[in-house]
Amino acid sequence: MCGIIACIGSDDAVGELLTGLENLEYRGYDSAGIAVQNGTGIAVRKKAGKISELKNTIARDVPNGTVGIGHTRWSTHGPPTDANAHPHTSRTDRVVVVHNGIIENYESIRRRLAAEGYEFKSETDTEVIPHLVEHHLDEGLDVEDAFKTAIGELDGSYAIALMINGTDTVYAARQDSPLVIGVDDDRYYLASDVPAFLDFTDEVIYIEDGEFAKVRPGELMLTDREGNVVDRDVETVEWSAEETGKGEYTHYMLKEINEQADSIANTIAGRIGDDGSIHLEEFPPGTFEDIDEVEFVACGTSYHAALYGVQLLRRAGIRAHANLASEYDTTTVTDRTLVVAVTQSGETADTMSALRAAQDAGAETVAVTNVVGSSAARQADHALYIRAGPEIGVAATKTFSSQVVTLTLLGHRLAEDLERGRPREDAAEFFAELRRLPTHIEKVLETTRAREISEKYLDKRSYFFIGRDNEFPVALEGALKFKEITYEHAEGFASGELKHGPLALVTDETAVFALFTGTNGEETRKNAEEAHTRGANIVAVAPDGTDVGDVADSVLWVPKTHPDLAGLLANVQLQLVSYYTANLLGREIDKPRNLAKSVTVE
Ligand code: G6P
Repeated sequence: MCGIIACIGSDDAVGELLTGLENLEYRGYDSAGIAVQNGTGIAVRKKAGKISELKNTIARDVPNGTVGIGHTRWSTHGPPTDANAHPHTSRTDRVVVVHNGIIENYESIRRRLAAEGYEFKSETDTEVIPHLVEHHLDEGLDVEDAFKTAIGELDGSYAIALMINGTDTVYAARQDSPLVIGVDDDRYYLASDVPAFLDFTDEVIYIEDGEFAKVRPGELMLTDREGNVVDRDVETVEWSAEETGKGEYTHYMLKEINEQADSIANTIAGRIGDDGSIHLEEFPPGTFEDIDEVEFVACGTSYHAALYGVQLLRRAGIRAHANLASEYDTTTVTDRTLVVAVTQSGETADTMSALRAAQDAGAETVAVTNVVGSSAARQADHALYIRAGPEIGVAATKTFSSQVVTLTLLGHRLAEDLERGRPREDAAEFFAELRRLPTHIEKVLETTRAREISEKYLDKRSYFFIGRDNEFPVALEGALKFKEITYEHAEGFASGELKHGPLALVTDETAVFALFTGTNGEETRKNAEEAHTRGANIVAVAPDGTDVGDVADSVLWVPKTHPDLAGLLANVQLQLVSYYTANLLGREIDKPRNLAKSVTVE
C-alpha cells in the first residue's frame, strides 16, 4: 500500500509532487521519493522516513523540472530504507517507476533478469518493472510497447507511473490498485487518490483496470487492454482542498470527529422524507425483490459498521450476516444473496477480493463507500455513497457513523423489497430521531467530558469496552480506535462474554467502558459490577438521566434518542476518549505506527 503521484506540464514539478505526497501520506509514510525530468536528465531523490525527511534532503539540493513522479511507501517487500524507497530505476537509469500494489511473480522475474546480468539495488517487488521495460526497449520495442509487454508479464496488483529519460511523457497503467487523472487545461496529474491533486484541480478522469494512459503536456491518451482509444468524460469532484485541510484543529482526527454532525446531515440529505419515507435514488422500490439474505464484507472499522448494520437489518426481519472480508467464504452464496461491501476508501484489497468472490459465486453486489469512482464503487453492481466527505486521519471516525446511517437507509429499502422484510413498526419515530442525530452529536461534542476521563484513567494498563446488541460493535470499535492511536492494550467484548474468560484479566489497573445506551442496561450493569468488584474502574456511557446505579466511577452522558441510534452517540464519546488519551500520551494521532488508511494489499 502506497500513494503515487505524477505531474505533467507543471512550472514547479518538485513543489507539486511534494504537496501531492503530503496529501497522500495517509496511504503510507515509511519512506518517500520523487523523480523529475528537467530536459537534461532525470533527478531522483528518495529517503526513508516521513515526507518531511525527503523535503529536508531535497532542500539541500533542489532539482528543477516540469514533469515528475512521486511515491509515499508503506512497506510490503523489504524494510523502509533509502534503497527500497521509490522511484526505482533501470540499470542505465533510462526508466524510472513508481508503483502501488504487489507484483506476485516478482521473484521469478527477478531470477530471470538476474541471470541475464541485471543487478538489483533494492529488495522490492517493484524494481523488476523498470528492468523489464528496459529489457524490452533493448529488444527494440518502442516505449509504449515495451511498457505494455512488461505489464503483460506481471501478476498481481499495480498502479504504475513510468518516465523515460529525455521525454516529457508519463506512462501509466492500473490493475486492482487505484489511479486517477487530474486535468488542469494543459497540465495533468496522476494519483492514487483525488485529494493528492485537489490543491491544483478538481477535474478528474477515472482510469479503469486494464487501461493505459500516455500523458504529456497538453496531450492525454487513454487506451484499453486491446489498444482501443478510450474517450472518458472529465468529472468534477465536489471535495475542496479546504475540506481536506486541518483547519483550526491540531489533528485531522479531531477535525473529523467534530465534523460528524455535518457529515451525517450530508449522508441523510434528501434521503428521508418529512413523513419518514426513504428515498434512495440509487435504489427505486423493487430493486431487491429477488433477494433472500444480505451478507456484509468489510475490514476494520467498516466491519464494525457492518456488524451494527446487521443488528438494524435483523430488526426489520432481514436475514443478515457480517463477514470479515479476509475470512469470507462464499460456499452458501446464491444468486439470491445480496453482498454489501462496506469500505470507506473503496480500495481495501481484502474487501475487493471478497466482492469479486461474491460476484463469481453469482451474488448481486452493492458497495457502500465514501469515495466516488473508487474501485469498489465500480466493481459492484450498485454503489451507495455515504457522503461523509474526505477522511484523512488514519483512524476512521466520521465515516463509521455515516456508514451506519447509510446502512439503516439501505435496510429500510430492503425491508420494503424483501419477502421476509417488514419495515420497522416504529419507522416514523426511528427516522425522526435519525434526522435529529446531527443535533444530538452537536450536543455530545459541546458537553463531552472525554478529556477529563482520559486524564483520570491515563495510568491504567488495560482498557476494556463492553456492550450488548448494537452496543457490541460500538464496544469493538471503541477498543479498535483506542489501540490504534494510543498503542495501549484495549479489547472490546460483548458484555455477557466478560465472565467467560476476559474477567481473568481484570484488575484494579483496568478501566472498563460500559455502554448503557441500548435496551439491556440491567444486564450490562450486572456485567460491569462483576468487573467492578474485581477492582476495575467503570466508565458508563449512558443516555441523560439513566440510573446506572453505584457501579460507575464516572459517566459520559449522551442525549436521549432511539436506542438503535444511541450507540452512534456513545461512539463519539469513545472516539474523543481515544483521541485525548493518545494526545496526552504524545502519540502520532493522524498517522499511527505500522498502520495506513487504505490497505491495498491482502
Ligand atoms: C485500514 C484502516 C482502517 C479501516 C480499514 C478498512 O486498516 O486503517 O481504519 O477501517 O482499513 O478500510 P476501508 O477503506 O475498507 O473502510
